[in-house]
Amino acid sequence: MPKSLPLPSDTLRVENLKKSFHKNQVLKGINLTVRPGESVGVIGPSGSGKSTLLRCINLLEKPDEGRLSYHGLSLDMARVRKKDLLAVRRFTAMVFQQFNLFKYKTALENVMEGLVVVQKLGKRDARDRAAACLTQVGLADRVDYYPSQLSGGQQQRVAIARSIALKPGIILFDEPTSALDPEMTGEVLRVIKEIADGGHTLIIVSHEMAFIADIANRVIFLDGGKILEEGTPKEIFAHPKEDRTKQFISKITAFGDFSI
Ligand SMILES: Nc1ncnc2c1ncn2[C@@H]1O[C@H](COP(=O)(O)OP(=O)(O)OP(=O)(O)O)[C@@H](O)[C@H]1O
Ligand SMILES: [Mg+2]
Repeated sequence: MPKSLPLPSDTLRVENLKKSFHKNQVLKGINLTVRPGESVGVIGPSGSGKSTLLRCINLLEKPDEGRLSYHGLSLDMARVRKKDLLAVRRFTAMVFQQFNLFKYKTALENVMEGLVVVQKLGKRDARDRAAACLTQVGLADRVDYYPSQLSGGQQQRVAIARSIALKPGIILFDEPTSALDPEMTGEVLRVIKEIADGGHTLIIVSHEMAFIADIANRVIFLDGGKILEEGTPKEIFAHPKEDRTKQFISKITAFGDFSI
């Protein structure tokens, strides 16, 4: 398991998180606690606010209201000072659907970038850590490749290496496989599973329900900007209580590619 990641020991608490875009209230008071080592899966219909939730936790979006606590930090999410923003960016790392790699940097340089620029690591240490993280995601032989020379699955693994290299307390995954062909999806899911099994803390938005069922300790069903239901994968997928959850789950199982 990734040795470079410290085992997290802090609980993330988000309270009463609200976010609107113009008159459209997208998050309507989210309360979420993520304990150290948990993998929390977030599912829900398109437009229910899943990406917005992750982006607000990472402060890529400015919430209208809410409190965030982590590791001695307790902040009003609507009034974030620069030092709080930097603190939040240090303990979270985000993996996006579209990888977001620098086109003109090699895999190694992409992973080194945040270490040198943000964490002020010396070039040699950054290079060593980046190489170790690329090895962890199975890309030891691709360190000098540019993104255009890598498959989608490999590019996403570079993005994952970049996030674990930063040693974040929590990694936020926003549909990490939805831009990938099915055969590349497996290799990326395996890497994420290894990170989760190593005891690290993850929040994962995904439409890969079998994966969520396998990896998550807890599943949250988001609908219309609210957490409608949460529970173990078994509770949510096999015995959902709310009608909306039942409807959502039955649509997925109707595709026939999912069982628990
Ligand atoms: N920057 C933005 N400006 C205006 N509206 C936005 C913005 N970002 C998101 N929204 C709106 O917020 C709502 C929730 O979007 P969000 O991307 O969080 O949904 P999602 O659950 O991630 O959906 P999907 O499963 O399709 O990715 C949508 O109605 C969307 O149009
Ligand atoms: Mg989304």
